[in-house]
Amino acid sequence: MLNLILEDCKKQLCSALIHKKHPFRYLTLATLKKEGGPNLRTVVLRDFNPKNLEFAIYSDIRSSKIKELKSFPEAQFLFYDSSRLIQLIIDLNLKKFFTAPSIYNYLPESSKRDYSSILMPGSEIKNPDEVQYNLKKNNFVKIVFEARKIEYLKLKRPNHIRSVYSVKDNWEGKFLAP
Ligand SMILES: Cc1cc2nc3c(=O)[nH]c(=O)nc-3n(C[C@H](O)[C@H](O)[C@H](O)COP(=O)(O)O)c2cc1C
Repeated sequence: MLNLILEDCKKQLCSALIHKKHPFRYLTLATLKKEGGPNLRTVVLRDFNPKNLEFAIYSDIRSSKIKELKSFPEAQFLFYDSSRLIQLIIDLNLKKFFTAPSIYNYLPESSKRDYSSILMPGSEIKNPDEVQYNLKKNNFVKIVFEARKIEYLKLKRPNHIRSVYSVKDNWEGKFLAP
């Protein structure tokens, strides 16, 4: 059963790459601030490899998350499926981040803007309509993480199911008291 749970998680994560409405398409990414404490934000899952448990997101290379990951190359992902009442908490190491013109060039123009604002993300502005973009000078980055640990929790009656899998246990898994 432990293995079936992990396999289903992988299946759902793959499905989130294809189906825009899948609850695992959006996740919360936690990084550590230089001055201490966590920083959370929502991001879109852009890539997932069920064989090596690598995950990828896209971002702007000037964003805080990049600075934080450079200082502390560790992160956590939180996925929540509100219809199946499943929570996944994944501990990850940053593997690499790189500009990827082959991806950026094929994005629709509206998406290119997400990585091409002239002002740094987080800059103070007077009016949201004054933001300008230079699509030719983008700051697109693909960030790749590798999972170290996956914790699964499903709320159900009479017994909730909580299990944990880690690279150091060869992803075999064990049940935990919920
Ligand atoms: C629905 C939604 C999806 C988002 N997807 C992404 C994303 O894929 N990548 C990203 O860098 N920011 C994304 N954001 C914006 C982040 O949540 C965050 O505000 C931004 O990246 C700045 O974060 P940082 O300054 O902590 O790095 C998304 C926000 C929302 C509300």
